[in-house]
This record gives sequence, structure tokens and C-alpha cells, in this order.
Amino acid sequence: MSKAVRIHANGGPEVLVYEDVDPGRPGPGEVLVRHTAIGLNFVDTYFRSGLYPPPAGLPLIPGSEAAGVVERTGEGVDWLHKGDRVAYFTALGAYSEERVIAADRLVKIPDGISDEQAAAMMLKGMTAEYLLLRTFKVKPGDIVLYHAAAGGVGLIFGQWAKHLGATVIGTASSPEKIALAKSHGFDHVINYREKDFVAEVKEITGGKRCDVVYDSVGKDTFPGSLDCLRPMGMFVSFGQSSGPIPPFDMSILSQKGALYATRPTLFVYNAKREDLEASAKGLFDVVSSGAVKIIINQRYPLSEAAKAQSDLEGRKTTGTTILIP
Ligand SMILES: NC(=O)c1ccc[n+]([C@@H]2O[C@H](COP(=O)([O-])OP(=O)(O)OC[C@H]3O[C@@H](n4cnc5c(N)ncnc54)[C@H](OP(=O)(O)O)[C@@H]3O)[C@@H](O)[C@H]2O)c1
Repeated sequence: MSKAVRIHANGGPEVLVYEDVDPGRPGPGEVLVRHTAIGLNFVDTYFRSGLYPPPAGLPLIPGSEAAGVVERTGEGVDWLHKGDRVAYFTALGAYSEERVIAADRLVKIPDGISDEQAAAMMLKGMTAEYLLLRTFKVKPGDIVLYHAAAGGVGLIFGQWAKHLGATVIGTASSPEKIALAKSHGFDHVINYREKDFVAEVKEITGGKRCDVVYDSVGKDTFPGSLDCLRPMGMFVSFGQSSGPIPPFDMSILSQKGALYATRPTLFVYNAKREDLEASAKGLFDVVSSGAVKIIINQRYPLSEAAKAQSDLEGRKTTGTTILIP
């Protein structure tokens, strides 16, 4: 037996229960990993609340990214050995001391990157990678808008977008968050609690507006985000921290300038092993070069996952957060 955080019914953070579970033994193609650090992500709250239905029903162990050490390998896994340092992103199961996972979802952690950094960046950093390099290929001179700039994905995104040569505009809800975002790549950060972010974007860009808007806030920033785009610009909706965007008529995209819109997910972009490896390499390279720094601003014991999720949903966290088993 080992400890894990499980939910037996959907609800608020109080449904996260720290209890004994049997992690099981690795079958063919699988590995038993002992976690050393676990990343906290907004998607964990969607599975807890029920916004995302559990793929295999309840109970479930939430948690989508982690780092750890290989304890045991199943049949046919010859490229990993006991003691190897590994990290991953996946849909569920990371809020645990130990877990069994398919070996083909793991990557080895390079020297020079700590377990805590790896746990904090596998999901969030590879999300920044595909958003900036694949969903829309950001190039020098592009103007990009990213909402919730001081968040976990946000601080990674800002540094990487700046490194690519873009003009990076962000939004955040407090002066402290604005200062933090500005020290992590964002050229301009708008307090969207106090100011009309559409008017601010128009002023900052001299009326030109943005080539691409990355929106993970959802309900509260829609349809304003569309008004921040130049004609034929790209609207990337990749989350819903304030709630889902209500259904809308496609003709709004023509009215607002023949816009493109997409709703991407990391799980689709990195479903194939070759894409996962390329994405992880791109992330490890940019972090190892020093161009992107992984900022861990909060640490909680795994047993306090409920407090961690409550703080994330309460907009109290900045940068990345990890749980320590
Ligand atoms: N599609 C994908 O592949 C993918 C992958 C990773 C993450 N995501 C999405 O990206 C977003 C960021 O994830 P994260 O883990 O890095 O979280 P995060 O950005 O650290 O936290 C969410 C932030 O959203 C802002 N926010 C605005 N309205 C909010 C509200 N009503 N309630 C709570 N927060 C609100 C808050 O920043 P302010 O206080 O500054 O407003 C808050 O700090 C999430 O929506 C997540 O689902 C999507």
C-alpha cells in the first residue's frame, strides 16, 4: 500500500481524500514510478468538479504531471531501468506516492534539470511549446496576447514568446501579478479586473491589434478576446478557468474579421510518441539554455492537495505549484 489522493464523488476541494491505495504491479509495457514531485494544474480541478467526465468512472486519482524514479519495469520495457529519473504528463493518477504508467508516456529527465522543475513543467511547458510553435507558429515581430499571464503556463509562455521575438501582451488581476509577468517576458500587462483589456490592446498596438490571442480564461474574456485580433487573426481557446465559453454562432468570426478559431489540447498534440519526444526535447533545450526559467512559487505536501487546489481556483497562486509526496 502507498498513499494517494482520491475522489469518490465530484465536488469542491473537500472531496480530495488522502488515503491508502494499492499502486499495483506493472504489466507488459508498463513501469512502476515512485514520485518525487507532482505538478498542480487547473485541469485537475475540472476532473474533481466534474466539468471533465472521468474516463473510467469514480473513484479516480487526479493529477496530470509528475517526476519520479523508476522502481520496477514490466515485460518488454528495456530502455528504462530501476533508478532512472523520469517525468510525464497524462490525464490522471499523478496525486500519488507511486503509480503504474505506460512506459511510452515517460521521458528521461536530463542532467541539470531537477525533479521539481520537471514535475512543474511537463504539462505546462509542453503546452507553451505546442501553443507557440505548432498551433500558431509565432515569429519575430508577431503581437500575441495571453490571458492570466502570471499563472503556471503563463510565466513559461511569456519567457518563451519573448525568446521567439514576439511582442508579448498579457493580462493579470493584481499589481503583484503584473510585476511578476513583466519580469517573465511580457512587454505589456493589463489589469483586466480594472481596465477594459480590448481598449488597452488597441492602444498598445496603435490600432493594429494582435496576430494571435491565447485564451484559457474562457467565459469572462469572451468575446472580448476576438476584438483584440487583426483581420484573419487566430483565436486559440485552450482552457476555461472562469467557466466554459457558451455556445456561439460561427458567423461571429466573420463579423469580427474573418478570424480563425481553434480549441487545442496537449493530449492530442502530443499523443504520438514522436511528438511527445520532440516536444519534451524542445522544452528541455529552452530551459537548459536559460531562455526559459521554471518558477516554482508554491509547494504543498501531497496530503494538502485540497488546499493547493483551493488556492489555485482562488487565484492565490502564481507561476507553477508542486505537491511533495
Ligand atoms: N488545452 C491545453 O492543452 C491546456 C494545457 C494546460 C493548461 N490549460 C489551461 O490553461 C489554463 C492555465 O492553467 P494553469 O494550470 O497554468 O493555471 P493558472 O494560469 O496558474 O491559474 C489560472 C489563472 O486564471 C486566472 N483566472 C481568471 N479568471 C479566473 C476565475 N474565475 N477563477 C480562477 N482563475 C481565474 C487567474 O489569474 P488572474 O488572477 O491573473 O486572473 C488564475 O491564476 C487553465 O485554464 C488550463 O485548463 C490547457
